[in-house]
Amino acid sequence: TPIPPIKNEAVKNFSKNDQLDWDLLKASLIKFTDNGALDIPLVINGERIYGKGTSREINAQTNPAKLSQELATVTQATESDIQAAIAAAKEAKINWVKTPFADRAAIFLKAADLITNKYRYDVLAATMLGQGKNVYQAEIDSITELSDFFRFNVKYAKELYEVQPTESTTGVWNRAEYRPLEGFVYAVTPFNFTAIAANLIGAPALMGNTVVWKPSKYAALSNYLIYTILEEAGLPKGVINFVPGEPNMVTDTVLKDYEFAALHFTGSTKVFKGLYKKISDNIVLDTYRDFPRVVGETGGKNFHVIHPSAPLLHSALSTLRGAFEYQGQKCSATSIAFVPRSIWDDFKTIISESLATIQPTNTSSVDGLSGFSGPVIHEASFNKITAAIEQAKVDPELTIVTGGKYDKSLGLFIEPTIVETSNPDHEFLKTEFFGPLLTVSVYDDVDFEKVLEKVNVNSQYGLTGSIFAKDRDAIRLAEEKLRYAAGNFYINDKSTGAVVAQQWFGGARASGTNDKAGSGNLLSRFVSVRNIKENF
Ligand code: ALA
Repeated sequence: TPIPPIKNEAVKNFSKNDQLDWDLLKASLIKFTDNGALDIPLVINGERIYGKGTSREINAQTNPAKLSQELATVTQATESDIQAAIAAAKEAKINWVKTPFADRAAIFLKAADLITNKYRYDVLAATMLGQGKNVYQAEIDSITELSDFFRFNVKYAKELYEVQPTESTTGVWNRAEYRPLEGFVYAVTPFNFTAIAANLIGAPALMGNTVVWKPSKYAALSNYLIYTILEEAGLPKGVINFVPGEPNMVTDTVLKDYEFAALHFTGSTKVFKGLYKKISDNIVLDTYRDFPRVVGETGGKNFHVIHPSAPLLHSALSTLRGAFEYQGQKCSATSIAFVPRSIWDDFKTIISESLATIQPTNTSSVDGLSGFSGPVIHEASFNKITAAIEQAKVDPELTIVTGGKYDKSLGLFIEPTIVETSNPDHEFLKTEFFGPLLTVSVYDDVDFEKVLEKVNVNSQYGLTGSIFAKDRDAIRLAEEKLRYAAGNFYINDKSTGAVVAQQWFGGARASGTNDKAGSGNLLSRFVSVRNIKENF
């Protein structure tokens, strides 16, 4: 069966009035802010379970740009709710595996269309308010990246099913069958991309699996909306079970189950290691039928290496965008930059002057939608980043080049901050802060090759990184020396902004299993191949 043509959803340019209906966006923002907190239930086997009036705990999701504004009250699953979600996933599996691919695909294609059309402004508003994004950042995440994932997964799944890597001989027909995993998938999803959460549930479900979904408490609003859209698109009950809850309890309950077949995770390296350990301990105890698939995208310490031949303005502005768009909270955010001494003064001036024109934006304000800088996601993050800023003020090896102020009287705002270090091995060049804090190491121009070696050796992570140079030999050298330092390597572009199907996303080392979201590689992790030989 042919599928409809698949291409990347166009990003709407919100600086042009003709592409955006501001009134519709305002209406969606107001809907989520002026009607009181939305009650978000658990959804188990299609049934909504509201915590109010029960013994279940209820969590508040607040707007990080306006801490006084409660957006949602989120019902927290109990242990028996999680058991019910697992049971629902197992039950739904019986029909879902028999559902023809065309029907499964149609649900995700329809959901993508609902998101890009009917619910575009609601999805934008929920992502902006809950996760602290300006409208452009919400657009490239929750609209274009998200719908691209749903649509391209359909294309890649079809290609995978049609590949027959088997040879047949006279009188023999060999076949490969891409079975869904036997059991259910546990998806643990992050706050920072609505799209990533959607792909963590969507990719396994498209391949015929059923899912227990623990969303981030900081993204419950947008994530619940995505769930309801999938439901409207025809997702059968129980295929995805939406169960926010206390992470350790949810995880421990899920990981005890015999039919746990895969973890699909995006979040911190530390949490992923903890999950990996629990899973391997359980494998040794024969807890599971299978060796579960473990698929995770975790931390990063993403670099920009600027060569003396680099185009100055472009590399400086790319560094600004890579480091500070969405407040440095993309997994791919530029966190360290290596700048040659010969251009450092000019580079610094361009970034500082550009930053001076950028004001913090209260994303909850319908008037400030096009601003650059929003809040960081939560207090723990605010405290970690501001502690680093305070350290930079007293550490003799660190100098604050620009920024350094912060204020949480309204929301969790931290100025985009650049710290220069005189020590090429300083811990700031290795620690992931996940916020608007860029550390720069200035090097003598002749030491370019040494810098590449240091970046490679010092990086325990391997997610994203960039080389900026006009000199072709420098580009080639960087490509070679940094071969494993980044799963997404950019030449003369910022380290952020991978587009589904164009730049497959993910990295190795401590950054994860590098199964490449936005490609067919990822989908192959959620099928278990059976080979069939038939004699005629
Ligand atoms: N697509 C996102 C980025 O690369 C994850 O920044």
